[in-house]
Amino acid sequence: MLRARIAVFVSGGGTNLQALLDAEKDGKIPHGEIVLVVSGNAGAYALERASNAGVETAVVQKKDFPSQSAYENALIDVLTQKGIDLIILAGFMTILSADFTSRYPERIINVHPALIPSFCGEGYYGLRVHEAALKYGVKVTGATVHFVNEIPDGGRIILQKAVEVFEDDTPQTLQKRVMCQAEWILLPEAAELVSEKIVRSR
Ligand code: GAR
Repeated sequence: MLRARIAVFVSGGGTNLQALLDAEKDGKIPHGEIVLVVSGNAGAYALERASNAGVETAVVQKKDFPSQSAYENALIDVLTQKGIDLIILAGFMTILSADFTSRYPERIINVHPALIPSFCGEGYYGLRVHEAALKYGVKVTGATVHFVNEIPDGGRIILQKAVEVFEDDTPQTLQKRVMCQAEWILLPEAAELVSEKIVRSR
């Protein structure tokens, strides 16, 4: 069986990438293999995590290109060269245009640190999501893995998991709990679900 070839897009610390690498090593993504990590930031610690796992890396930074389309063409070149079937956005902070997302229908997934449709869309990323949840005073938040389309955080939901909010939470403590209890579990599960679908559709 040819496994689905996965590229993981990152921008920062890469704990979700680590969860994916660990899950693959533990045999929890039998239908997929992570063959490439693409970073939107040359200084991302995620690049070290990829190297430590022996996965090829590429740095493609939007600021190095004159336009969104030139940037996305560079991404497409890298993905085509590596024969990528599935793109996983794991803490990837650059918005991709409709031109890009429409090339990969139901072949791009993203993890978002809230229960969509709450605290999502443009401007809601990273710690900002948890700041907004605490400001609103919700008692339950969580994480969502969804397909990526032209609407930020608007594609079909694949998996969601709820996480309790505590009275004394800070954005940082809440972020950590959402990662541990939801993101790092859901993202590898979704990677396997979609990889299996890709393999079966061949
Ligand atoms: C994660 O919490 C991820 O859900 C979030 O950024 C963090 C990245 O952490 N992504 C978004 O907010 C995207 N809208 P990581 O680099 O340690 O995986």
